[in-house]
Amino acid sequence: MVSRVIPVDPFDLVIFGGTGDLARRKILPGLFRRFLAGQMPGESRIIGAARSDMDDAAFRAMVHEAIKEFGGRESADEAHLRAFLNRLHYVSIDAKGDGGWAQLSGLMVEDRIRAFYFSVAPSLFGDLAERLHTFEIANKASRIVVEKPFGRDLETARALNATLAAHFDENQIYRIDHYLGKETVQNLMAVRFGNVLFEPLWNNHYVDHIQITVAETVGVGGRGAYYDKSGAMRDMVQNHLMQLLCLIAMEPPSQFNADSVRDEKLKVIRALQPMENHHIVRGQYDRGKDGQGYRNDVENDRSFTESFIAMKCHIANWRWAGVPFYLRTGKKMKARSSEIAVVFRDLGHSIFEGDEARHRNILSIRLQPNEGMDLQVTIKEPGPGGMRLVDVPLDMTFADALGPDAADVPDAYERLIMDVIRGNQTLFMRGDEVEAAWAWTDPIIKGWESRNDVPKLYEPGSAGPDDSLMLLHRDGRRWRDIKG
Ligand code: BG6
Repeated sequence: MVSRVIPVDPFDLVIFGGTGDLARRKILPGLFRRFLAGQMPGESRIIGAARSDMDDAAFRAMVHEAIKEFGGRESADEAHLRAFLNRLHYVSIDAKGDGGWAQLSGLMVEDRIRAFYFSVAPSLFGDLAERLHTFEIANKASRIVVEKPFGRDLETARALNATLAAHFDENQIYRIDHYLGKETVQNLMAVRFGNVLFEPLWNNHYVDHIQITVAETVGVGGRGAYYDKSGAMRDMVQNHLMQLLCLIAMEPPSQFNADSVRDEKLKVIRALQPMENHHIVRGQYDRGKDGQGYRNDVENDRSFTESFIAMKCHIANWRWAGVPFYLRTGKKMKARSSEIAVVFRDLGHSIFEGDEARHRNILSIRLQPNEGMDLQVTIKEPGPGGMRLVDVPLDMTFADALGPDAADVPDAYERLIMDVIRGNQTLFMRGDEVEAAWAWTDPIIKGWESRNDVPKLYEPGSAGPDDSLMLLHRDGRRWRDIKG
């Protein structure tokens, strides 16, 4: 397979929070890979901006180390790594004061794309946006990139949108949800809208239900303080899982462009029925063999925050009326596995005498690991013995089907940053989408808070609390196995 890299115009990318964890783990190693792919043309530069007092050389040394640690096998390419590091600069900046801004302004050059990545706490977004204008660093063609969490409820998300809107137009604001940059997530749209096969079946006449699972084996790690105030609902469901749900459920956009796609996603969120409490299961991981439980990890032994959530949702529109969407996500689960499964209805009538098994077509879309798709179909078991039927997967693991290069896809962050440079907002969340997602999640969270809801404990390394299994058993269904 020939990998095709779309050229981009020369750019300057300023990373506020350039010495932070996300920059070191994801953004800078990702940019190095784009540099290797030839997507940092001409004099393009990356400018780290943070509070620490350091010079270009110290910043380059820090990035060098980060790429060695997180950059994968490409980081062995020392000659290219040096060339990349030479494109890096650093400005020590005071987000809340005037320090460093004149220097940053002095670094800007005319006729080059300017992008500003706000990899900082949302409380600083307003200060950064304002100073980019006061010091005339941003212009009408500049773009800003903001990270989640985008608010912690509807009110704070609205306030953030208003803060950004005071200085930037919506078409300059790129709200990242890195799940939208994952290869398979985009493939979902290609499969739905690039084939004649699936779309006629993609509705309540043929689909029994849909399952979306994002299971992680890691716990909350060193992010306890943040996580304990968020929980799985704010950290994963309100953004990543809802984005997946939107792409699965949306109507075909008339074109694959930013506003057409985002208009359709917004309609899905607005059509989500308010949740009923008995359709939600919250869980918190218990102590494992190492004696460490969620409460130890977050250092809060009275925490009622959920590290797991399972829910049954309904979309109130013609296409999906009556089709449950089961969502679940959790930390410290039995395997790292993210999958969307479209489970089709049973056959109305079987012509095969004696065959009592329930055969179902299932389209499963695996986000990670082993990105790919498979379609479970029913065939005759080979050999004598009459018409014995068996379900087998038509496997479309991308690496097998498209060659080894297919596994070498850009990381979600790399792809999304390049979309910022290209000015393509299709894979970014629009302000109204984020607000609609909060409008749906807020009453759920407020309900828990007002009832002092206590999450069910689950064993680390399991599939979550038993109540989550019951959520489907009650409907005569079962979760798919979580396989790494
Ligand atoms: C982040 C969440 O947005 O996504 C983390 O804050 C989570 O808690 C992570 O671990 C999962 O991302 P991925 O790409 O590893 O599935």
